[in-house]
Amino acid sequence: MKKTWWKEAVVYQIYTRSFKDTSGDGIGDLNGVTEKLNYLQSLGVDILWLCPMYKSPNVDNGYDVSDYREIMAEMGTMQDFDNMLAEIHSRGMKLILDLVLNHTSDQHPWFHESKSSKDNPKRDWYIWRDKPTNWESIFGGPAWTFDPKTNQYYLHLYTKNQVDLNWENPEVRRELYDMIIWWIEKGVDGFRVDAINHLKKDLTDMPNPEGKNYVPAWRKMTNVEGIQDFLKELRDETFAKYDVVTVGEANSIRAHELAEWISEDEGKFNMIFSLEAHENWNQDLDADHNVMTIKKILDRWQRSAQGIAWNSLYLENHDRPRTVSTWGDDRNYWRESATALACMYFFMQGTPFIYQGQEIGMTNVPFDDIKKYRDIETKNFYRYKRMQGVPHEELMEAIKKVSRDNARTPMQWHDGTNAGFTVGKPWIDLNPNYNWLNVEAQTVDDRSILSFYKKMIVLRKSRECLLYGSTKLAETDCPDVYAYIREYENTRILVVSHLDSDGCHWSLREKGQLLLANYTEFMEQKLQPYEARVYLLE
Ligand code: NOJ
Repeated sequence: MKKTWWKEAVVYQIYTRSFKDTSGDGIGDLNGVTEKLNYLQSLGVDILWLCPMYKSPNVDNGYDVSDYREIMAEMGTMQDFDNMLAEIHSRGMKLILDLVLNHTSDQHPWFHESKSSKDNPKRDWYIWRDKPTNWESIFGGPAWTFDPKTNQYYLHLYTKNQVDLNWENPEVRRELYDMIIWWIEKGVDGFRVDAINHLKKDLTDMPNPEGKNYVPAWRKMTNVEGIQDFLKELRDETFAKYDVVTVGEANSIRAHELAEWISEDEGKFNMIFSLEAHENWNQDLDADHNVMTIKKILDRWQRSAQGIAWNSLYLENHDRPRTVSTWGDDRNYWRESATALACMYFFMQGTPFIYQGQEIGMTNVPFDDIKKYRDIETKNFYRYKRMQGVPHEELMEAIKKVSRDNARTPMQWHDGTNAGFTVGKPWIDLNPNYNWLNVEAQTVDDRSILSFYKKMIVLRKSRECLLYGSTKLAETDCPDVYAYIREYENTRILVVSHLDSDGCHWSLREKGQLLLANYTEFMEQKLQPYEARVYLLE
């Protein structure tokens, strides 16, 4: 495998809106990111991925762009952006942007033009039909909205304010490529490419035996035949001309398909986010032996990539609940389970991503009142399900578990006012546990989750084996132990994470030197609840 900077890096994802507010309007901003660069540097991360900061009416918190070349007013100015980028680069760090190419906001001037009349030159930049297909939108409700002025429907896979661009139109593609090059020329170092496998659509009806108003149409809108041609052109016209890193958000891809997406020969991106393991997300790992399932899936991805491709490694992002509350145990083994999960994914082959707050073990937020939720997906889910007669209590139970707002509460810097996130009124309530769960408290505690992350980053960077070594699952008798061996030249490193709250029999079968552990005292022949260890094997 070729050696490259982004393979040796650790990426930190910033949900800018919730990271740090410096203007006092309760919304995180670019100057807030700049202010916290020393913190990020001390953590040891190399690349920052910034969630959308483009001009946007924020129906979906920036994933509805109304101008790709302007900064969202709440987050600052282009001057702030340039300053932030210079500060990032002066620290030897890199910046990747979130690129939303599947849709724009309905407030984008292109859409204003497109909807102004049927013969407007930009009419065909979006997808208009006299008769809609029977698809349901990914965020609930119909995927088409009627425009009374021109008597046609437009397509939106997400909310009706996120209008799908017509990728079949070469002018649209050219305009997007120019915009991408504009940002690269400005100095950004890469992109996380949003919702990339929806670019191609098969605009035909889904079977609808029950005669519903609209039906889920995943396979008509995801990875449709012909999408690779779009992706190839996108790569060749933009990313391939520069030394930038790309990671595509690619739903529903399975390990055996990874070559055309990310192989070094024919991949369209350097990495993708595969969501397969996370499809088990909302379940308790304890139930249904999910550790076994996750092990099977992640191992399949590791094996399939070996020698041909490189991939991303991640536990959390802004679309998922917090792992310490789902896969871990945030009540009884908060510190142990957060660190064991971290150890489990961090040392596999690939580039690790850390989502803001994950490094201090931030937890799901217990909002009881639907009015406290801000996420449009959550709000739509509640609205449509209530319309279908699902009881309020049942919905609240589900929302508390799965809402994306679980991961979007403000970053917890210290135990003072609003956790140090803002001096104003935060756009979303804080998780009240900031009084004890915060960066400041963990910075001075050598046994904290934050300290563990720092140690993991140092360790990963100090051993080539942990970067470029092969990965092989290690057999254990205990189904809840995830163990694997990295091997490179003459070095072998064993990573063992026990992902359950019981004790289990386990012993090191070879001689090894302990490199990292999340407990300070060990038991003979036993792993304690959520115990994790890393050994250099002799
Ligand atoms: C994936 C993003 O991560 C998510 O936050 C967003 O809502 C959808 N794509 C639509 O852009």
